[in-house]
Amino acid sequence: MQTRRRPENMERINTPALAQAFIDEQIKEIKEQVGDKKVLLALSGGVDSSVVAALLIKAIGQNLVCVHVNHGLLRKGEPEQVIKVFRDEMNANLIYVDATDRFLDKLAGVSDPEEKRHIIGGEFIEVFAEEARKLDGIEFLAQGTIWPDILESEAGIKAHHNAGGLPEDLQFELVEPVLTLFKDEVREVGRALGLPAGMVDRQPFPGPGLGVRCPGAITRDRLEAVRESDAILREEFAKNGLEGKVWQYFTVVPDFKSTGVKDGKRTFDWPCIIRAINTTDVMEVTVEHLPAELIDHLVQRIITEVPGINRVLYDFTPKPPATVEYE
Ligand code: XMP
Repeated sequence: MQTRRRPENMERINTPALAQAFIDEQIKEIKEQVGDKKVLLALSGGVDSSVVAALLIKAIGQNLVCVHVNHGLLRKGEPEQVIKVFRDEMNANLIYVDATDRFLDKLAGVSDPEEKRHIIGGEFIEVFAEEARKLDGIEFLAQGTIWPDILESEAGIKAHHNAGGLPEDLQFELVEPVLTLFKDEVREVGRALGLPAGMVDRQPFPGPGLGVRCPGAITRDRLEAVRESDAILREEFAKNGLEGKVWQYFTVVPDFKSTGVKDGKRTFDWPCIIRAINTTDVMEVTVEHLPAELIDHLVQRIITEVPGINRVLYDFTPKPPATVEYE
């Protein structure tokens, strides 16, 4: 099947009215393409897959089967939000798979970053394929491919991750309703579909999730320290009007300990590193300089609320030379 393309003269979708026109047109096209057949979607809770889910729910309702795989490396509250928004509020046909133990057991003792990525990616396909095989009568696979994915794969920058990743026995016809859109247009459409702002304006989050922010071999206690400190950082950014303004911000808990003191007793715990960056293309990145009072407040909250942390550091390094993520 030839890949659809963004028409050269396509108007930028930057108003609710244009978003609504796009939604109406896509609902019609989806209905024409899939009829009364079933469609499968891996719903991560990211912007693209969430918008695809919301569009398909409007078009075909219960004939969309969403699978949300929790690999144990998601941010605090993410699986709960996916279930609340899609199952409870949109009445989606949602299969939730908590595969945390499976992923963390496979990752135990693995310290090489590429091997960690490989295990997470491979296991994800495995879990998704197992769920797909349990279902009958699925003929289509929906994907949140967007226009920059096509451009980047054509330019040889990154492979456009499509159904090619699934095993031979699971080949479906693709449904890619946001393929012609740029990211800002996907967000506009998401708003028009009524998705919550926190989901539509979400900062980028890597596929391997918190796994790359827990450098070296992942342990459950250090992973929890990453998750809890990240939740505090996000909460404080939202409170201080930085959500949606700073491009990406997160915490990292490296695998070494240093001496500290608490309640007159020696401690030997991990540091927590805060990273907050801005960019347009992620090839070059500058560091966001936070107000000193906010830094002080973050330090206080993280050292008192997150078990295992006795020191907070701020990463002032641009890219290049440092990448955004630590692995
Ligand atoms: P780096 O660390 O390469 O990150 O400077 C650039 C941007 O890409 C994101 N990133 C990833 N996204 N899978 C993803 O889906 C990955 O393995 C991955 N690694 C990095 C990173 O969060 C940043 O936005």
